[in-house]
Amino acid sequence: MYEKEINKRRTFAIISHPDAGKTTLTEKFLLYGGAINLAGSVKGKATARHAVSDWMEIEKERGISVTSSVLQFEYDGFCINILDTPGHQDFSEDTYRTLMAADSAVMVIDAGKGVEAQTRKLFKVCAMRGIPIFTFINKMDRDANDTFELLDEIEKELGVATCPINWPIGSGKRFKGVYDRNKKAVITFSDTEKGTKEGHTDVLPMADEDKLRNYIGDEAMDLLNDEIELMDGASAEFDIDLVQSGKLSPVFFGSALTNFGVEMFLKYFLQMTTTPLARKADTGVISPTENDFSAFVFKIQANMNKAHRDRIAFMRICSGKFDAGMEVKHVQGNRVMRLSQPQQMMADSRHIVSEAYAGDIIGVFDPGVFSIGDTICMPNSTFRYEGIPTFAPEHFARVRQIDTMKRKQFVKGINQIAQEGAIQIFQELGTGMEEIIVGVVGVLQFEVLKYRLENEYNVDIKLENLPYEYIRWIENKDEIDISKLTGTSDMKKIQDLKGNPLLLFVNSWSVGMVLERNEGLKLAEFGRN
Ligand code: G4P
Repeated sequence: MYEKEINKRRTFAIISHPDAGKTTLTEKFLLYGGAINLAGSVKGKATARHAVSDWMEIEKERGISVTSSVLQFEYDGFCINILDTPGHQDFSEDTYRTLMAADSAVMVIDAGKGVEAQTRKLFKVCAMRGIPIFTFINKMDRDANDTFELLDEIEKELGVATCPINWPIGSGKRFKGVYDRNKKAVITFSDTEKGTKEGHTDVLPMADEDKLRNYIGDEAMDLLNDEIELMDGASAEFDIDLVQSGKLSPVFFGSALTNFGVEMFLKYFLQMTTTPLARKADTGVISPTENDFSAFVFKIQANMNKAHRDRIAFMRICSGKFDAGMEVKHVQGNRVMRLSQPQQMMADSRHIVSEAYAGDIIGVFDPGVFSIGDTICMPNSTFRYEGIPTFAPEHFARVRQIDTMKRKQFVKGINQIAQEGAIQIFQELGTGMEEIIVGVVGVLQFEVLKYRLENEYNVDIKLENLPYEYIRWIENKDEIDISKLTGTSDMKKIQDLKGNPLLLFVNSWSVGMVLERNEGLKLAEFGRN
């Protein structure tokens, strides 16, 4: 019934290491969608770059960052949803969870830097889901690493095959444009003229070699001919099935800042990526085009302002159509309800939605009933979408309460904050809640925890940083006697609130060591709920 609407939707996340050009690329996308007139600021740039101690300021501006976490615009008959993956100081488990709501990912890589740490981490989550991953190698207007080396690095470091869709001719001051392998033509580079969408480009077919040679010069022409030959022989053939299963990443070169190669990328990307994906539930796979509305919660955003203790639950619509005011069932709460103040984001404003379709993301007012991973469906049905994994925190601290009389508030507060998914809490194996270990993906969350406990629960805490950086879940915990594990000197045994055993390590090297020393032990980087 809603197939037409649903099939025109493309929902993707942009992943990158900070400063690779994610914001700039997003701005340029929006420009094509006509969502903003000129590529103004998508998010308060300054916001993203605040020092840790300034995070409360960030919260004051939370409206801005919430608004920009999902953007929707129309282009060329498609309805596009871009999910922002917070980076910089905002990097947190939410960044990973956002990827659970996307159907594909665009990976932005700085051509002068190659694959960087944060990209590597985010890529792992995309790979786990097997979603299509498109690579945009950015900043070609600056000196870039060797093209073959860049591709090689992506293949080796990330374990995905690559297929260049276009090929750069030079870089930096000698950047002449890209060769489009499909069109067998060179698209010439020129800088954006101020106030316009893009600079003037020409399309010079390879067949017209004299003209092309004249334009890019003999040296670049000869090199291009050699590289095309090499690339045709060495790189993986384009295969849409491999792309859609995330095994082959189409690669594009461009320069977001000068808006070169962005529209080319967008056009190819929209053709190659998928319509909203079917999602697994405990009753089987649910197709997005099923008539009945369903969704799952992937992010909960607490309002830091004490006067407004509301939260927004972000949900990904997985099937059917959402109508504002309709009755839905919150499966985990076993309650029929209306979703209040459903909202969607458009460029720099948020607005109340009256309808939305599978593939879309909506934010709803949460009076404190939703948890990450919860399913919402029609009142007459009951099923649960596959849960969202727990992602490995990388920073750990012991939490001590300063005033032990406030035990109850402390336990309540820390549990609530953990339920929102901002932090994970653990205990040492065999101890109670007296001593709690907190794990976070981004260090900013420590400050958030301290501030919120003080301000919302009136509890002062002391955080003592621990040296651990690696956490592993024990996959086959029923087959293993934890007390008999042969560890390393830097290993610590802990448990989560459900009593699942976990191991903490200071060095990644020790993880391998412990696996070697304990035959049959299976460790996982993600926790399954
Ligand atoms: P991020 O969201 O991934 O963190 O990156 P962002 O887009 O903010 O870009 C980081 C910096 O890189 C910005 O410069 C931006 O202008 C620049 N940049 C992005 N794409 C390109 C490109 O294709 N070529 C070149 N040469 N630079 C690019 P900045 O100086 O940090 O910020 P600003 O003062 O220019 O805004």
